[in-house]
Amino acid sequence: MAAFGTEFTDKMVINHYADGQWSGLDVVPVEPFRLHPATHVLHYASECFEGLKAYRTAEGNIHLFRPDRHVARLLNSAAQLLLPVPDEATLVSSLHRAVAEVKDQIPAYPGSLYLRPTLFGTEEDIGAAARPTQKAIYYVLTSPVGDYFAGGLKPLRVKVDHEAQRSTPEFGAVKTGGNYAAAMRQVVRAREELGADQVLFAPGGIVQETGAANFVLIENGELLTKPLDGSILPGVTRDSILTLAAEAGLKVTERDFNVTELLERAPNGEAALTGTAAVLTPVGELVHNGVTTQVGNGEMGPWSSKLRDQLCSIQSGTADDPHGWRVAL
Ligand code: COI
Repeated sequence: MAAFGTEFTDKMVINHYADGQWSGLDVVPVEPFRLHPATHVLHYASECFEGLKAYRTAEGNIHLFRPDRHVARLLNSAAQLLLPVPDEATLVSSLHRAVAEVKDQIPAYPGSLYLRPTLFGTEEDIGAAARPTQKAIYYVLTSPVGDYFAGGLKPLRVKVDHEAQRSTPEFGAVKTGGNYAAAMRQVVRAREELGADQVLFAPGGIVQETGAANFVLIENGELLTKPLDGSILPGVTRDSILTLAAEAGLKVTERDFNVTELLERAPNGEAALTGTAAVLTPVGELVHNGVTTQVGNGEMGPWSSKLRDQLCSIQSGTADDPHGWRVAL
């Protein structure tokens, strides 16, 4: 399978906003946009997006995973960015329609169809730096995907950075390209200098999340992660894993914790990234100030395996779905 996010289906759903109203959902071929050089998003980053997946079960049924949560997060991102956004019902039906249009292009599990709903400002006005865009495009691009991390499921080497920031305390929960742009330089540097796969941002010593996914530490019967205080992304996979962990008997704690506690506990425990793309990917090594700390025995630990398997079984349709996370097409 092609690298994550490099292959696309041939159709997408689109909706245009102008003169105070949305045009309605339309299905068009996936083709380049023609944008005026003054287009708002190109100058003022008026953009947000989502990432969710649709799965085909062994019986051939198709479902989306927790689309309601993704729609809620997109609405919040749009509100923070002062972007016009279609209403909730239109967003939900855009996701169903985007999948229905390409349902013969959804790979069999463990593959899935990744949906990338995207909203951006299209007003042609480079003077509008302090004024919201009056024109926008919303579209749902879809991409057949496998594993996010190259090389498949293997424990990651993660740089812990206590100085770099991926966002601001107020803007971290907004799923906007700017937050990923801020993280990218750090991730590339960590890869080049340390052979690291990701960066765990811990500004001021407080552990937040990585550039591409939320972060959890599991040790001594406890799953520990940062609370949703607006500075990190409210991950849908994070929420799913926390729910499954509590049901499996782990004590789930959402509180701030620092790099010292992380590095003290990690050798006896497990750590993982959670995200739509990352699913649950174990962390094998943490590198802080040039010193490598092995997490547990460096392999995927028993809790991580169990929680990942449980989540994957629900997503693939082989397990019961007591929480109603699967939404049939
Ligand atoms: C996702 O997990 O859906 C994301 O948007 C993360 C991105 C780095 C692929």
